[in-house]
Amino acid sequence: MMKKLLYVTANPKAKEGSSSLTVGEVFLETYRALNPSDEITVLDLYNTYIPAIDQDVLNAWGKLQSGQGFGELSAEEQAKIIRMGEVVDQFMAADHYIFVTPMWNFSFPSKMKDYIDNIAAAGKTFKYTVNGPVGLLQNKKVVHIQSSGGIYSQGPGADLDFSNRYLQRIATFLGITDYQSVFIEGAAMMPDQAEAILAKAKEDARMAARNISGDLIVI
Ligand SMILES: Cc1cc2nc3c(=O)[nH]c(=O)nc-3n(C[C@H](O)[C@H](O)[C@H](O)COP(=O)(O)O)c2cc1C
Repeated sequence: MMKKLLYVTANPKAKEGSSSLTVGEVFLETYRALNPSDEITVLDLYNTYIPAIDQDVLNAWGKLQSGQGFGELSAEEQAKIIRMGEVVDQFMAADHYIFVTPMWNFSFPSKMKDYIDNIAAAGKTFKYTVNGPVGLLQNKKVVHIQSSGGIYSQGPGADLDFSNRYLQRIATFLGITDYQSVFIEGAAMMPDQAEAILAKAKEDARMAARNISGDLIVI
């Protein structure tokens, strides 16, 4: 069955200078080869307008919650609410999500946080119940490709990862439990290993593409 893959990047660099975007491209090549008829949408958060939650957005939500009609919102408030709706609708329409991010100061670039603030939408991707919030997304899969100078997937640095672990929690919060991570990590600590680290991450990305495609892996 044809699936929709949303490929989300949060990096101002060109692909040539970015290890995460380079590994992301390897993921896409493998995925395309395995799923030639799937629809792939690229969402570059550095080249797409994603509203931040600001005073307009909070004012608009407040007005709507208090029963005011959409027409009573200011032009700015309306525009931001409409755009946030488009962003979350595009997200909900996809089956597979690939997030490609560098680690900056132990987390991802703030564009990624803005994106999360758009897709965590009460009534659309999660709902509140008497037993607490419940994720509304089903049968979706996430792959997160993260590049960092140090090592955070394991060992003493693991506590300092506020991006991959956070994204996984957000995915779970929205109902997505199928979550894989690909790390390109440690090249700043071990510059002589940089090539081997990149090669391993490319292999992990191919494996993630096979996994997400439901390709049987024989070990
Ligand atoms: C602003 C900035 C902050 C960074 N913060 C961290 C950090 O907290 N931990 C780390 O290990 N590397 C950090 N780095 C290094 C990057 O994570 C590393 O160079 C990574 O490979 C960048 O991915 P990219 O090549 O896809 O852009 C930082 C780099 C920049 C530019």
